[in-house]
Amino acid sequence: MTSQELKTIDQQYVCSTYARFDLCVERGHGATCYSPEGKQYIDFSAGIGADSLGFCDADWVQAVSEQAGKMQHISNLFYTEPCAVLAKMLCERTGMKKVFFCNSGAEANEGAIKTARKYGFDKYGKEHNEIITLKNSFHGRTMATLSATGQEVFHNFFFPFVDAFRFVESGDMSKLEAAITPNTTAILMELVQGEGGVIALDQDYVQAVAKLCKEKDILLMVDEVQTGIGRTGKLLACEHYGIQPDVITIAKGIGGGLPLGAVLFGEKTEHVLGFGQHGTTFGGNPVACAGGQVVLKKLDDKMLEQITEKADYIWKKLSKMKHVKSVSGLGLMIGIELADGLEAKTVVQQCIEQGLIPLTAKTKVRLLPPLTITYEEIDQGLAILEAVLNAQ
Ligand SMILES: Cc1ncc(COP(=O)(O)O)c(C=O)c1O
Repeated sequence: MTSQELKTIDQQYVCSTYARFDLCVERGHGATCYSPEGKQYIDFSAGIGADSLGFCDADWVQAVSEQAGKMQHISNLFYTEPCAVLAKMLCERTGMKKVFFCNSGAEANEGAIKTARKYGFDKYGKEHNEIITLKNSFHGRTMATLSATGQEVFHNFFFPFVDAFRFVESGDMSKLEAAITPNTTAILMELVQGEGGVIALDQDYVQAVAKLCKEKDILLMVDEVQTGIGRTGKLLACEHYGIQPDVITIAKGIGGGLPLGAVLFGEKTEHVLGFGQHGTTFGGNPVACAGGQVVLKKLDDKMLEQITEKADYIWKKLSKMKHVKSVSGLGLMIGIELADGLEAKTVVQQCIEQGLIPLTAKTKVRLLPPLTITYEEIDQGLAILEAVLNAQ
């Protein structure tokens, strides 16, 4: 099928919730992919952080193919090895105690929200259900996670939203303290706000929040859907901040490109959800979990160091480029603030025309390359970005 044929069918039959770029992608390897006509693109998007090992990593393909050929799915009514082993690996690597598997970031955050409410209910009663989140956050597109998202632009059309979320400005402890009531059960936050513009939270602030949560028996819940699984150069961004949350949500990178999310529970929360109180048909799917195991195995100390080195290399080069006002984020989660009134969307569109796939985050150009990207691919991609910027 040609790109034109594909676009015609897609535009007629796929619900138009996505403003797609004018690009069809058919296949890929590493951080390089191709259109149906064979045009090459360097991928600085990794499927918005999901393709952690790039396209079609050989070990990942082997693991998921073997598992698909052995047993693709049964149900959570039965024990399966890929699910149990991945849960063990996640707990051993993160210091968390238990895992609930789901299929996406929004679902992982739904699980966290339910956990916070149940924790409050069990310990303090029905009214103890308020969750504080940060302004400019993004937590997903389901009703509860949209409601938890601290951006007014998302609180439209779908009324009524889910109650009992309060939003505070990040970085201001006095505002946070003022928002806490006797019914506050949890604080949910991203450590680097991704969709909000790739903004890393201040370390002192995060540590102060963690301390306050401990003192007041408020659950500290960290949304690592975008920051987790090596993206920032540590397995979890929490490690940069020296905190051990009560609940951590992950998705995107853990599946390596298959739908897989998880809620990780710490000591305080491991027994909060009991039989029949949460579940999903596909959560812990054997094929997705087999892929997840490969992702985790590959993300050893050496690979995490390499991610940091690649990130340093990219950050240095970006900061010297024309029209780049500032670079933000952490590790391979990179935001580029443009100077001179340039629009991120226009720059990204022109990059795509020239064979590079970046992303946007609000007014910034955003880069989320696969964690396995080679220096050759980085150089090719940055050369395209630089040429586009120089031409403005
Ligand atoms: C921090 C964060 N949380 C939650 C989500 C929602 O994840 P999903 O799209 O897998 O539902 C995203 C997606 O971009 C995210 O960046």
